[in-house]
Amino acid sequence: MVDPATFRDVMAQWPSGVTIVTTVDADGVRKGMTASSFSSVSLDPPLVSVCLVKTLYTHKLISDSGIFGVNVLAKDNMEVARRFAGMVKGVEDRFEGESWTVAETGASLLDSALGWVDCRVVHEYDGGDHTIFVGEVVAAHNARRSAPLLFHSRGWGQFADVLPDVATISDTGLVDALRNSRLAPQLTDAVAVTTAAGVRLRVADLTCAAEDDVVLSDVPWPSDRTMTSVLVGDRLQAQKALECGAGVIELTADPGVPASLQQALSSLDGIADRVSVSLAMAFDPALREAVLESVEQLSAAGVKEICLPDTAGAATALEVRDLLQEAVPLARPTALRMRLDSGDRLALVKVLTALKSGVRDFDTALGQLSHSVAVEDLIRLLGTLDVACAVDGEAISALAVRLGTIHHTDRTALGARNTVGATG
Ligand SMILES: Cc1cc2nc3c(=O)[nH]c(=O)nc-3n(C[C@H](O)[C@H](O)[C@H](O)COP(=O)(O)O)c2cc1C
Repeated sequence: MVDPATFRDVMAQWPSGVTIVTTVDADGVRKGMTASSFSSVSLDPPLVSVCLVKTLYTHKLISDSGIFGVNVLAKDNMEVARRFAGMVKGVEDRFEGESWTVAETGASLLDSALGWVDCRVVHEYDGGDHTIFVGEVVAAHNARRSAPLLFHSRGWGQFADVLPDVATISDTGLVDALRNSRLAPQLTDAVAVTTAAGVRLRVADLTCAAEDDVVLSDVPWPSDRTMTSVLVGDRLQAQKALECGAGVIELTADPGVPASLQQALSSLDGIADRVSVSLAMAFDPALREAVLESVEQLSAAGVKEICLPDTAGAATALEVRDLLQEAVPLARPTALRMRLDSGDRLALVKVLTALKSGVRDFDTALGQLSHSVAVEDLIRLLGTLDVACAVDGEAISALAVRLGTIHHTDRTALGARNTVGATG
């Protein structure tokens, strides 16, 4: 006879999804429990099964009512799962605090679940101390596209390779591009709209300025300067930009040249948490070890973020993934930003790869005005992936139309999917 503890331990190694099975009592009052024994049984007719302990209250109710609903839980439904498993003390009504819809059979369906099936019991099989309920599916719905909640080894989890809930966007090309073009008169308006829309904006690049020639008074500052960044060449320029209220200081370092990284590190004293350091040619396979080492050192120095540019779009999606899988955990808690090249037709594929590898911050440029991927393309991509971003897509696309960088039809497509970011 197998040892029960060993049996339980082996079964705990079996990873599963998590559902909430719901039904009703004789008075039509909703009841439910957490169950991971959900399984698909047949396609034609559509049948599913759940295995429930015979002594459970929900077991009796399903047997009596002949109906049940199965709600497939998402990664952010863990608290609901705990409540319906009786793991939260003092809960009188497990359903409270969530939004539910009543199905055709009377079973309750969780609005925030990934999907659900509504069933009528067609078989009850004896399964030792459990009963195997087989239900015919009378209705089914895919409610959300998100990652599932998982259960393994008595703990909750989720796939490592999931999309983040939220992403942020900055624009590092707009101001320079407008300054030097026929659109220069639009600069003040463009800066105001972009920053008010929730996009951090690089308002000045001081790297070419001579040391005593740094004039920050003609920078087109928006009313909220915390939404700005300034690219600087050295500590002195960083200091001046911070005195003017710049939100973030951007520095560039060459990971292949130790002196360059040392110079960046030595400029950080007292201001590290306001500094974003960009590592040139970060995805060059020849620089891999140097880049990882730089990421580790910059993170230890407490920089606000580390930017990895895919210079000239040279990296493959696989190279992006390979580097990020090591760099993201090394950088923690420092955020890694990515800059994708506008000339790279696979740039958005790499954005997706980066999102799945744990990067949630991106550099862009409105309408591909400079070398970064277009902000409106990124907003549209995030919207279709259900990754929220606190950016007013309507305002950004209206600006892009005004500046002639996108057409009205593109704008309609963008605006239809995004207002203030999509939510997951
Ligand atoms: C992740 C997880 C999965 C579970 N799966 C099942 C299951 O498939 N069958 C079952 O009978 N109990 C399962 N349980 C236990 C029930 O959820 C728990 O006993 C619940 O309190 C029963 O509710 P009731 O007493 O109101 O009927 C599971 C618990 C957890 C945490």
